[in-house]
Amino acid sequence: MPNHYAVFGNPISHSKSPLIHATFARQTGEVIRYEALLAPTDEFAAAVDAFRAAGGRGANVTVPFKQAAFSYATDLTERARLAQAVNTLRFEGEQVLGDNTDGAGLVRDITHNLGFAVQGKDVLLMGAGGAARGVLLPLLSCQPNSLTIANRTLHKAEALAQQFAAYGKVQASDYPSLAGGRFDLLINATSSSLHDELPPLPPRIIAPGALAYDMMYGKGLTPFLAFAEANQATHLADGLGMLVEQAAESFYVWRGIRPETQPVIEMLRKA
Ligand code: ATR
Repeated sequence: MPNHYAVFGNPISHSKSPLIHATFARQTGEVIRYEALLAPTDEFAAAVDAFRAAGGRGANVTVPFKQAAFSYATDLTERARLAQAVNTLRFEGEQVLGDNTDGAGLVRDITHNLGFAVQGKDVLLMGAGGAARGVLLPLLSCQPNSLTIANRTLHKAEALAQQFAAYGKVQASDYPSLAGGRFDLLINATSSSLHDELPPLPPRIIAPGALAYDMMYGKGLTPFLAFAEANQATHLADGLGMLVEQAAESFYVWRGIRPETQPVIEMLRKA
């Protein structure tokens, strides 16, 4: 009997997770079944209860349930506790481990797949919502020279910077005040790309050799990546690698095996 896993979201039909995990399973020889499950927006806990009762061993959780999954977990990893959001659940009897693999996925994509070292660099993280919060601890663990959180609504960036001050050099800024600064790594963790918008970045903030990273992915360049290209960023990346890497990290949480991600990223890139 295959062990049973699922991804919960709403909507969920577009999810690439079943394909990614089926590919990981084939590659590693792990016998699992993984499906996408639509949960009603106000019935996440009931949907997960039913899945566990039917023998489910673990789950991924995506929009809009990451906070609900955080509440559902009986135990949390440190990275999930600080993210205040859970994208990976592991069920062991009554115990529910809540983890968050998003930040580890981002860092692995940047450092391993793109070969870009974060240590000693000046990093700009755009956005102060759940997506930004979820990657702060893994980014600070790379020991950048500085990490600036920029947000339109400054107080949200300030609150985040304060909460993560114990984990590294982190400061908050609004967009106009970025002028005159230079960043080696610029990460868009806002939802701007979803609306085909660009965060209000001043010109000339991209240092030579910089990597511009958009956590969103889709066809063609996002407005942020187009801005970065026009402003001479040396490297551009979208969030497809992060998607596959966070999945690989979840697979490791469940199965104790790290799948190879490169062929899966290439497969999705072609599709
Ligand atoms: P998520 O969970 O995806 O982070 P969220 O919590 O709603 O979603 O946060 C969205 C983030 O994107 C916020 O930081 C928001 O900035 P404000 O807090 O100032 O609203 C940011 N955002 C959305 N659209 C943006 C845009 N066009 N330019 C800059 N920032 C934008």
